[in-house]
Amino acid sequence: MQRWTLDIDTPDWQSAPEAETACTALLNGELVAVPTETVYGLAADATNGKACAKIFQAKGRPQFNPLISHVASLEAAREHGVFDAQALALAEAFWPGPLTLVVPKKKSSPISDLATAGLETVALRVPAGPVMRFLADRTGRPLAAPSANLSGRISPTRAEDVIADLGSSLSVVIDAGPCAVGVESSIVGLIDGTPRLLRPGGLPREEIEKILGRPLQDASPDMAPEAPAAPGMLTSHYAPDAKMILNAHEASPEDGLLSFGPDPLPGAASARAEVNLSPTGDLAEAAANLFQAMRTLDASGVTTIRVQFIPSFGLGEAINDRLRRAAAPRG
Ligand code: TXA
Ligand code: MG
Repeated sequence: MQRWTLDIDTPDWQSAPEAETACTALLNGELVAVPTETVYGLAADATNGKACAKIFQAKGRPQFNPLISHVASLEAAREHGVFDAQALALAEAFWPGPLTLVVPKKKSSPISDLATAGLETVALRVPAGPVMRFLADRTGRPLAAPSANLSGRISPTRAEDVIADLGSSLSVVIDAGPCAVGVESSIVGLIDGTPRLLRPGGLPREEIEKILGRPLQDASPDMAPEAPAAPGMLTSHYAPDAKMILNAHEASPEDGLLSFGPDPLPGAASARAEVNLSPTGDLAEAAANLFQAMRTLDASGVTTIRVQFIPSFGLGEAINDRLRRAAAPRG
């Protein structure tokens, strides 16, 4: 495995020899870990079924959950998916950015059935992180990329996290420092004329609804493999080793504490380990720190992590979604 430490502010980083190495690896059907503004992705050529199979194998994904294909522009996305007026409005408003659109797949798209899990729809995203866009553009391939973690584990927001989980499966790890957004993209389905939020994420629901001029509907279970079939049936995901207790009313000297905001929980000072996601109560800062905070508390050796209440508006919806999944019973 080769590690490319990349300062994105360096002029002409695209001409570095490592850029060539990463493109060659992708074109050869190998796996490359790539930073985006949300989380690090485990990228492969989406048109190469064997390469996509390596993603599932490396992550240990139990079933063939469909993957997001990353492209460099809306123009490139339209080679693979059918964009109605609502899909176009969202793409124009938010791409590049932390938004994935699930749209009908074009018959002529070369994206492999393994990347779409055989569905007649395709998930497309133009990320704001420039490295993924550059690689898609230079290779001329859509890049399938789930989060670069073992299945069911905490998503990676630093190259070190990727290497710890998947180092042995990778040809290249591109390290561009921590991810700015910190939670995965919001996924909107535009399949049946009704826009649906399939996964809350790095783009707040309110901003999406403002562009659509109507509320987003919930996912129907057949559309969103990640959505719970019924309330309370959340699948465990984003899970630390420690057990999670949400909306805790007080801290405990035995347990870890994940705090939020300026008002400490009773007993916070005596918690065995504490991380505050945002001492000022800023939800964007909290999202950026969320996965790292779970890792830090896990590494402190506590067996239980108590979580302070976090409001559910803006990025709080995605934060609470990830916390509920982390707290769900382990399968
Ligand atoms: O921010 C992100 O979205 C990151 C970065 C790397 O781009 N990627 C990511 O991928 O979170 P992943 O594989 O962890 O999540 C992809 C989600 C899954 O929940 C999958 O079920 C859903 O996208 N998905 C993909 N294709 C779909 C489709 N055709 N219909 C419905 N859901 C789909
Ligand atoms: Mg994931």
